[in-house]
Amino acid sequence: MEVKTIKIYFVILPKEIPKDILYKKVSILDINERKIFERYRTKDKKIEFLTGRILAKNMISKEFNTSNRKISFYKNSFGKLFVERDCIPRGKPPIYFNLSHSNGIVTCAISSNLHIGIDVENIKQDYLDIMEQIYLPKEIEFVNNGMNKNDKLRRFYLIWTLKESLTKALGLGLSLSLKSFKVPLDFNGGKYMNFVFKTFIVNDYIISVAVLYKKGVFYKFTLKKLSWKKLFCT
Ligand SMILES: CC(C)(COP(=O)(O)OP(=O)(O)OC[C@H]1O[C@@H](n2cnc3c(N)ncnc32)[C@H](O)[C@@H]1OP(=O)(O)O)[C@@H](O)C(=O)NCCC(=O)NCCS
Repeated sequence: MEVKTIKIYFVILPKEIPKDILYKKVSILDINERKIFERYRTKDKKIEFLTGRILAKNMISKEFNTSNRKISFYKNSFGKLFVERDCIPRGKPPIYFNLSHSNGIVTCAISSNLHIGIDVENIKQDYLDIMEQIYLPKEIEFVNNGMNKNDKLRRFYLIWTLKESLTKALGLGLSLSLKSFKVPLDFNGGKYMNFVFKTFIVNDYIISVAVLYKKGVFYKFTLKKLSWKKLFCT
């Protein structure tokens, strides 16, 4: 059986990154990315955006054994990023990746040859009151069966992150209604319909990944924490 390793990286951001360190790294952005970076009004959003680009470019260049400056991206019409074809060394399969960020955390999932989506959310944010509008009856029941508020929130965000990761693996994002499809109501993930899911809980964050299912492939998921300092200072 073919084994495919899906690599998931995350970075926990500090409350403050000194300006000189931050702006030194902006040079990794291309012209279009630079414009997006400048458009973000808050420093936190700028940092999350820049961290995502550094993380993705570093990890992809590592896969290709090349410099992170040689990695560039294009977007589909819904905003999903793909590696530019001419960055992929001859004879290597394409690398698919996806980014997600949420209040102080940035995540990136990478896989070779398999469409992938990732979503991270902070479990502490209480959005339980919008559940009726966005989830299916069985999903609402699953959340309401939680033992207490924390458990309910974990269940709420399990569904949210699984669904968003699937929409991102498809490259459609939330242009696809969350009520139009189901996900496994299970923290262990596994194969469901045409996707393989995996969920991790790290501190107050929940991270879910969806990868397109391919017959005869065993999916191995790895999760690695990277230090922001190493990312910004090397
Ligand atoms: C994808 C989407 C769900 C992400 O929402 P979010 O929860 O705010 O953000 P996350 O932190 O989880 O993910 C953001 C990352 O997802 C990626 N992304 C954006 N659109 C994507 C899509 N359609 N599919 C997969 N990934 C997408 C980007 O890399 C983005 O990070 P970046 O802006 O730093 O590059 C949302 O942006 C969306 O629904 N987009 C599609 C809507 C659409 O049709 N847009 C067209 C205009 S471009």
